Amino acid sequence: MSFDLSVFSNKNIILAVTGGIAAYKSAILVRRLKDYGFNVCVVMTKGAQAFITPLTFQALSGNPVHTELLDPEAEAGMGHIELARWADLILVAPASCDTIAKFAAGLADDLLSTLYLATKAPVWVAPAMNQQMWAAKPTQRNLNTLVEDGVHVIMPEAGSQACGDVGLGRMPEPEDLAEQVKNYFHQAQRAIAEKFGLLAGKRVVITAGPTREAIDPVRYISNHSTGKMGFAIAAACYSAGAKVTLLAGPVSLDTPNGVRRINVSSAIKMLDESMHQLEEGCDVFIATAAVADYRVAEVAEHKIKKAGDELNVSLVKNPDIVATIAQQSKRPFMVGFAAETRNVEEYAAGKLVAKKLDMIACNDVSRADIGFASDQNAMTVFFAEQYQMEKRDLEKASKQEIAQQLVEAIHDALHHEIEPI
Ligand code: C5P
Repeated sequence: MSFDLSVFSNKNIILAVTGGIAAYKSAILVRRLKDYGFNVCVVMTKGAQAFITPLTFQALSGNPVHTELLDPEAEAGMGHIELARWADLILVAPASCDTIAKFAAGLADDLLSTLYLATKAPVWVAPAMNQQMWAAKPTQRNLNTLVEDGVHVIMPEAGSQACGDVGLGRMPEPEDLAEQVKNYFHQAQRAIAEKFGLLAGKRVVITAGPTREAIDPVRYISNHSTGKMGFAIAAACYSAGAKVTLLAGPVSLDTPNGVRRINVSSAIKMLDESMHQLEEGCDVFIATAAVADYRVAEVAEHKIKKAGDELNVSLVKNPDIVATIAQQSKRPFMVGFAAETRNVEEYAAGKLVAKKLDMIACNDVSRADIGFASDQNAMTVFFAEQYQMEKRDLEKASKQEIAQQLVEAIHDALHHEIEPI
């Protein structure tokens, strides 16, 4: 999930447009909010309709535009009280002096001012007006009242104005406003995840992708790992409230939202960085990387020239990253992966013991429909004996869903009471 837009599809925004030339920017704002996946419903004051038509907003938002306080048709469908309850956020952009004054005074003589009083949702205002009107004492006094009442005021920007003046009063660009809304919901979700998520507050380090072992300055040995599973697990751990560091081999994937990514190339570099992360503090270490088993004994300083029919390259064994971390005195909860083409479960159970892991997830990469480059996966998870937990079969599903199930398995093992023998 580079940025999972669908997470906002259950969030409802009322965009209230009031009278001002900046109203044209609100049309683009609807688009940008929709791009992030929000449901947008537009409310317009009379003043706004002098600048732009409701039809424009209806077409862009895909929802009926609300303009009247007592509209029999709207009251039969979504009247002002339902609308006030429906909203997760009311964004007034542009917010005119008049609307700001109405909010400050607590008037309820049109749809928007009534919504303001009737909603429990946060209210944001983005004032846009002539610089003199912005600076006017009543406007500033009203804005102070709004701030005291808990309204979030988005400061206008300085610049040349439609009226020819230069100064404060321009509405920020729609892209900026939409991003602020996105960040607000994202932070709210994050705060909940950090408090109540399955991995709340845990520090998770994940290795992912292949490693690349140089032969000479232009050639290397590597494998077909795409890193998709590791990246999906990183995203799932972050959504579960963890602080996630992803040690990524060379892959062409976007960094999941909120995840700290450190790019590495060789197995040695991946191990160095893993040890460094361990020193920084790590509760769970998840090794999904397809680490090259061998590296070239002596990397040629210059490009190897074509000569003769054969070329012998001597290889030496790479360190086992996950096993090395598992041997450390202050070891995290260790999760390994096993990709096998036969005797899948037997080999995986062997690796669990040999590498001193707490948990291992194994899959059959001989199946074309799962594993490596596929978007789907199916796995069996084994836990170390002391957890006294049954093995778990994760049915074929998207790598995102498998990642979520792995997070649940890690959580369950972490919270498993080990009975005294
Ligand atoms: O031994 P095998 O490569 O099958 O083991 C797979 C598990 O060990 C994976 O979790 C992989 O990320 C990890 N591993 C490692 N360092 C290596 C080889 C494998 O961390 N050199």
